[in-house]
Amino acid sequence: MTSRDQDPASSATTDEIVQRLLADARAVKDRAYAPYSNYPVGAALITDTGTVYAGCNVENAAYPQGWCAEASALAAMASAGERRVEVIVVISDGELLGTPCGGCRQKIREFAGPATMTHVAGVEGIRRSYTMDELLPDSFGPEHLG
Ligand code: THU
Repeated sequence: MTSRDQDPASSATTDEIVQRLLADARAVKDRAYAPYSNYPVGAALITDTGTVYAGCNVENAAYPQGWCAEASALAAMASAGERRVEVIVVISDGELLGTPCGGCRQKIREFAGPATMTHVAGVEGIRRSYTMDELLPDSFGPEHLG
């Protein structure tokens, strides 16, 4: 969609949706539980029904048991019975681009379509935007399993 296109589910423009997701991702980042890395992350996504889900990273004293913000947002979405991500915004505070980790790229891919966009944000706003194919080229997905 271009910035003038309308989302039939909400009648909001693409820019408005991204800004809404950015605000929600920022808000949920502030609730991240990241006492070990001190690297809070927030993610907010909108589905094909126009519903928004958000989640933060949740770390654990047994380090490998922690999980990423994208996983939290996707779990909230799937738990609500939804299956299609249209746009996702991921935000962190660092100077470097806080792109989704490899595992999260695959997690997003599970519920993505060709038009699904991932926007990576920092303190100042959106830094870079990726199609699913840019984020995870030649990816494996549900259709491989027939
Ligand atoms: N993290 C995310 O939440 N998403 C990513 O895609 C990359 C990493 C979190 C996991 C951990 O809590 C912290 O950032 C440092 O790796």
